Amino acid sequence: MTRQIASVIGGKNEPTGSPYTSTNPARPSEAVAAVPLADAPTFARACRDAAEAQKEWSRVPAPVRGRVIASVGRLVEANTEALARLVTEEIGKPYAEALGEVREIVDTCDFFLGEGRRLYGQTVPSEMPDKNLFTFRVPVGVAAVITAGNFPVAVPSWYLVPALLCGNAVVWKPAEYAAASAHALYRLFAAAGLPDGVLNIVFADGAATYEGLELALSEGTVQKVGFTGSSAVGRSVGELCGRHLQSPCLELGGKNPMVVMPDAELDLAVEGALFSGFGTAGQRCTSLGTVIVHRDVHDAFVRAYVQAVQAAKIGDPNGDVLYGPLLDRKFAERYEEYLTWIEPHHTVLPGPTGRMEGEGLYYHPVIVDGVRPDDRLFLEETFGPIVGVTTFDTIDEAIALANRPGYGLSSSIYTTDPKAAFRFREGVSAGMVSVNNSTSGAEAHLPFGGNGKSGNGSRQSGVWVLDQFTRWQAMNWDYSGRLQKAQMDVADITPDLAFRL
Ligand code: UN1
Repeated sequence: MTRQIASVIGGKNEPTGSPYTSTNPARPSEAVAAVPLADAPTFARACRDAAEAQKEWSRVPAPVRGRVIASVGRLVEANTEALARLVTEEIGKPYAEALGEVREIVDTCDFFLGEGRRLYGQTVPSEMPDKNLFTFRVPVGVAAVITAGNFPVAVPSWYLVPALLCGNAVVWKPAEYAAASAHALYRLFAAAGLPDGVLNIVFADGAATYEGLELALSEGTVQKVGFTGSSAVGRSVGELCGRHLQSPCLELGGKNPMVVMPDAELDLAVEGALFSGFGTAGQRCTSLGTVIVHRDVHDAFVRAYVQAVQAAKIGDPNGDVLYGPLLDRKFAERYEEYLTWIEPHHTVLPGPTGRMEGEGLYYHPVIVDGVRPDDRLFLEETFGPIVGVTTFDTIDEAIALANRPGYGLSSSIYTTDPKAAFRFREGVSAGMVSVNNSTSGAEAHLPFGGNGKSGNGSRQSGVWVLDQFTRWQAMNWDYSGRLQKAQMDVADITPDLAFRL
């Protein structure tokens, strides 16, 4: 049955807008939710409403806000199966992974509920007597959060939870092809008791969102933009924010490398390459892009990798499968274009490429061996079930290859030599490095984010994200009863710098 859902602004449904239907990618003829997409002025109005609601919310004591986050966590946990089933239905993520995705929200809430009782500032000694210095974390104001649909509920929670905990209001624009999942998460947040207008959900297409954001930034109602999506769109969001002297939190694509050293445990490396290359149908921003395997173990690795891929089950995401359909038609079309980047000098394994027979958006897994450093397949993100393989001779060469595409989100090395692991960590440009683990599967309380084409250096998760959603305010309080001038009215203690033993 098609769900009817709508944007919610200031606690009220917005029933108008151009009609859009999110569908089940396993059976694209089946509608999951019908939702009107808002226009740019509606997005800007949501930001104005949020700015109004934020004033009160920022005055709610942080420990009380923390308890609201605790309630969100409990509500999400109590609704785990329903939310995970919906994610599976709407974007085709295997149910076991969808359960993991929901778990990631609970983990994020668990981390931040306590932060409400910390959110530490500092007391700092002054250079003058009878004067105290302090620092405070101040909420930024309104955060406009624009998220992708490959993690339709977990990745949004990385923004929503800390932003709200820190005393900000949020206007959230989720991916429209994952509208029902996002709406369900919104309802769980609302059920936790957030006052109207503190969290708003606006469904809109990319163009209306950009225009609405531009309006809101000009009106001064948005102080922070969070964006998860492609490097190309991230660049234009970054340009827009830059014009308004803002630095957004950008979580963009990746071409994540996995280096397999000659001393690696090959079975482990194959298992990691299978999960990170083809789990989630290769549609994580942390998915494996290219295996960079030492020449001596190349043949053995590729043989085992192909076998593992051939043995893997692909199909109904409600079953026990490695992956299900691609997220949505738009992604399937784009993926088919990536397949045209395969060139005559490549060896395509294990066999067929492209869409499988039947209605669902299922695609064959593809390993492309013999990828060269100048190939498009080597240099650009290919969101989908395709992994490149190339070889190296020295670790320095492996590091140079790992960095060459210019992204920098996640990376991995399989080795039994600690020296190689640390050399790789030091040399790789990625924000995240795995040793004997795949490129995917970051934990919810470590800094998550990338460099280069993967982002602007912002980090989500853990304590690190607090710097995205708060600004430091420095306060000095002089109780000496006179004007003491910094740097001038400072006591001088004279050393004897000529002193020698
Ligand atoms: C994403 O694909 O946008 O590390 C996030 C991982 C997950 C998050 C992926 N915990 O693969």
